Amino acid sequence: MKINRLALCGNWILERFPLAKVWNEHMTHYYAPKNFNFWYFFGSLALLVLVNQFVTGILLTMNYKPDAKLAFDSVEYIMRDVNWGWLIRYMHSTGASAFFIVIYLHMFRGLMYGSFKQPRELIWIFGMLLFVCLMAEAFMGYLLPWGQMSYWGAQVIISLFSAIPVIGDDLSLWVRGDYVVSDATLNRFFAFHVISVPLVLVMLVFLHIVALHEVGSNNPDGIEIKKYKDEQGIPLDGIPFHPYYTVKDLVGVAVFLIFFATVIFYMPEMGGYFLEHANFIPADPMKTPEHIAPVWYFTPFYAILRAIPDKFAGVIGMGGAIVVLFLLPWLDRNPVRSIRYRGGIYKKALLLFVISFICLGYLGTQPATPTATLFARLFTSIYFGFFLLMPIYTRWEKTKPVPQRLTEQHSLEEQLHTLEEQLPALFEEITETKPVTTEIGDPAFRSSFFTRRPNAEGLLNVTTRLVKKLKESLD
Ligand code: HEM
Repeated sequence: MKINRLALCGNWILERFPLAKVWNEHMTHYYAPKNFNFWYFFGSLALLVLVNQFVTGILLTMNYKPDAKLAFDSVEYIMRDVNWGWLIRYMHSTGASAFFIVIYLHMFRGLMYGSFKQPRELIWIFGMLLFVCLMAEAFMGYLLPWGQMSYWGAQVIISLFSAIPVIGDDLSLWVRGDYVVSDATLNRFFAFHVISVPLVLVMLVFLHIVALHEVGSNNPDGIEIKKYKDEQGIPLDGIPFHPYYTVKDLVGVAVFLIFFATVIFYMPEMGGYFLEHANFIPADPMKTPEHIAPVWYFTPFYAILRAIPDKFAGVIGMGGAIVVLFLLPWLDRNPVRSIRYRGGIYKKALLLFVISFICLGYLGTQPATPTATLFARLFTSIYFGFFLLMPIYTRWEKTKPVPQRLTEQHSLEEQLHTLEEQLPALFEEITETKPVTTEIGDPAFRSSFFTRRPNAEGLLNVTTRLVKKLKESLD
């Protein structure tokens, strides 16, 4: 008899380690709502980018020198002399920006579908802790190439601590490890960037997913699928995560990689947004760059800092902009989760919030002229207004009835098919047939000639119905 050694080896492991149990519990027997849409790609994409950062980060560390005298040159060495070094570096720097794009979209999904609400508050809190760690990780990583913007960006941000009364000066000295940003700062930032913060990130991702799998995923309808189960206890509106969503997520991964590769190969600096131009000049403590701006993903918060005239109040405002996000589950008083069934007030408030966040992001990249500061103040007020007025306006808003079960999502093909079926009737309504009154031709056949003309009444009817439908979908 032939012995299958591989199967034996597998069994040996499975008898000693709960691999199959964990896989089943969290993949094949984890029932996710069947109506996940585009917005549900970003969680798995965040995981993908995290892995990319780890792999490329480790490879970069093999040639990078955390020494103020050598750091800049070692990055140039990686770019020019290390085999594929340029690719590894661009994958890491583009990965940092991609991480924030993915995370901002992931958070926006939460805001749209109320994924932060009971019972998912802890998933949101772990997510916010991840966001703070991610910001710390990106900030410290940016010092490592030791370019002009690395140096002066760190100088500006660390000196903000000195605005804190009493302990401020000592605190910023303690963070820097010197009176100015120096080799000591570079060394500790390297240690934190390469080992401490990544460890915390991994731990938080683990907690984030464990918390998610305990209560189950939310969905675009914001309905609890666990309420309706079959005889075997399987949610009627759920499908196994594996293979259904693993395969769906692969499509997201493929599309993401197309964009990611396009940036890496064709525009790795992204016009100075992903890699700032000033960072290609070695750090010079004697020469302050004319215009210091952080990388794009920090600029909304930087704009809030600059919008507030007092330095300490600015620091509190900037910190407060992040703290309010933690409080979101308790600020939103409306029990309806998904934006699909919420009132117009929340939709408009969310739209205003997104506009102000983007505008603050833009203003943070620009010099603080009086006009820019005025606008930054306006958008800062909207940013905070969105959160601080939330307990009031979310109580008022009129919501739509929430269905008991998931609503049917029509595919694009189905929608096109329905449209195809409705088109002849619509065409009939917006046009009318008129007999052709012409002098030419045989009078016996004249009445069989017809022409189609626009029907004013029909057009009005159809347009009114369309506007009504649009209004309904907005409300
Ligand atoms: C390294 C960063 C992060 C990773 C790797 C990550 C990963 C994931 C994954 C894989 C999921 C399940 C799939 C999905 O629902 O898309 C998820 C769900 C979720 N995440 Fe994150 N996440 C991260 C950061 C964040 C942040 C910053 C927040 C918000 C503050 C957040 C809030 C949520 C919420 C509320 C859910 C549940 C969504 C739902 O069920 O509708 N996550 N996350």
